[in-house]
Amino acid sequence: MLKGTELINIGAEQGKITKELLSKRQQYVSRGISNLAPIFIESAKGAVIRDLDGNVYIDCYGGIGVLNAGHCPEVVVDAINNQAEKLIHSCFSVAMYESYVQLAEKLVQVTPGKAPKKAVFFNSGAEAVENSIKIAKAHTGRSGLIAFSGGYHGRTLLTLTLTSKVKPYKAGFGPFVPEVYKAPFAYCYRCPFNSTYPKCGMHCLEHFERFFVSEVDPASVAAMIIEPIQGEGGFVVPPKEFLPGLKAICEKHGMVFIADEIQSGFARTGKMFASDSFDVVPDLLTVAKSIAAGLPISAVVGQAEIMDAPTPGQLGSTYGGNPVACAAALAAIDQIEKNDLQAQARQIGLKIVATMEGLQQRYPQLGDIRALGAMVAVEFVKDPQTKIPDKDAVVAIIAACFKRGLLVISSGLFGNVIRFLPPLVMTSEQLDQAMDIFSAAVTEVFGE
Ligand SMILES: Cc1ncc(COP(=O)(O)O)c(C=O)c1O
Repeated sequence: MLKGTELINIGAEQGKITKELLSKRQQYVSRGISNLAPIFIESAKGAVIRDLDGNVYIDCYGGIGVLNAGHCPEVVVDAINNQAEKLIHSCFSVAMYESYVQLAEKLVQVTPGKAPKKAVFFNSGAEAVENSIKIAKAHTGRSGLIAFSGGYHGRTLLTLTLTSKVKPYKAGFGPFVPEVYKAPFAYCYRCPFNSTYPKCGMHCLEHFERFFVSEVDPASVAAMIIEPIQGEGGFVVPPKEFLPGLKAICEKHGMVFIADEIQSGFARTGKMFASDSFDVVPDLLTVAKSIAAGLPISAVVGQAEIMDAPTPGQLGSTYGGNPVACAAALAAIDQIEKNDLQAQARQIGLKIVATMEGLQQRYPQLGDIRALGAMVAVEFVKDPQTKIPDKDAVVAIIAACFKRGLLVISSGLFGNVIRFLPPLVMTSEQLDQAMDIFSAAVTEVFGE
């Protein structure tokens, strides 16, 4: 088992155990679930992963944003063990337990906004999104929804409707949920209005005047849901005016403003939540991923009056806010606060961005570098003038990183973005090594 954060045997060599398991995996596991790295993990600690053949990797994907507090933090493991010895399950809607209430209180304290708030727990990000919409519908008595192109909110039928990526997510799964309207996101590198920020004067906000004439009556819209920074969409960071502008539109028309912070939450962006960086207080917030260092739990948290709109029994699930997951979440949030992972995120982000900017000087194929804290991405293009997306380069760079022992993943509508989501407990030595590997991989793909 991996004890410390040592980096020995770094790099990938597919061994006998992996080969055998791969063939069993093909026989018994649905091909509908894909795998980026052909490895089976034996154990992981901090920011380091060891596979069953003894290969060691630096983790720069953090379980897709789940492991801000690192792999298997000791206090979280202890909290899980202690709780598991006392109570594993009850179902909160039948008989309650203290940790559920404690976690709700904690979330109310750490999320944006000083007004009275409440929380409710579920199992996955998609389930939190679904329920945030139910809550908004109960509050407003309306049915319309506005989501944003390039957004990702999950794979259940409603969340897939809100999500914007045809292949592989949506193709073949329609018809989708009615009354969902898509508005353009402020993706300045590929502006949908062909404008340039800040000269544009924010066409993407002005656009709503026309949107409410041509697409939907704002009086029938229950909620607008948005990721403050698009995750799967390629870490698209909007200009500072965008989110406050949308919130003002919601206020004007009585819509609930929902921020989906499932990927951007819990210190990833250098503040507890990305909304904090944009000076916006969402009416409702969906959170999951890094809330519990890997245990499946999600939440909707927000204005008490809106949260109380559904009547008793309208919300809930068998496992939602399970006692072991609540204990893990309380310990994980405590770690994030005590170790000041917000400051860590800012440091890590600066280092990654500096490395990317250095590479961009040599390789203009690094078309756009986007970051907020340690949520960093690079968009690869065939040519910086035409901006034609280069997915092949991304696939090749990820493979070249993997071969050298670095795990990174792609994103973006065109699959041409590499995103960095390292555990925020990554040491500076590990980060340096990760950046060296990434630079070597880029050099291998684009040439000296
Ligand atoms: C912003 C956002 N919303 C929702 C989800 C869906 O979460 P889950 O996969 O836990 O259902 C994700 C997952 O990547 C996400 O990044």
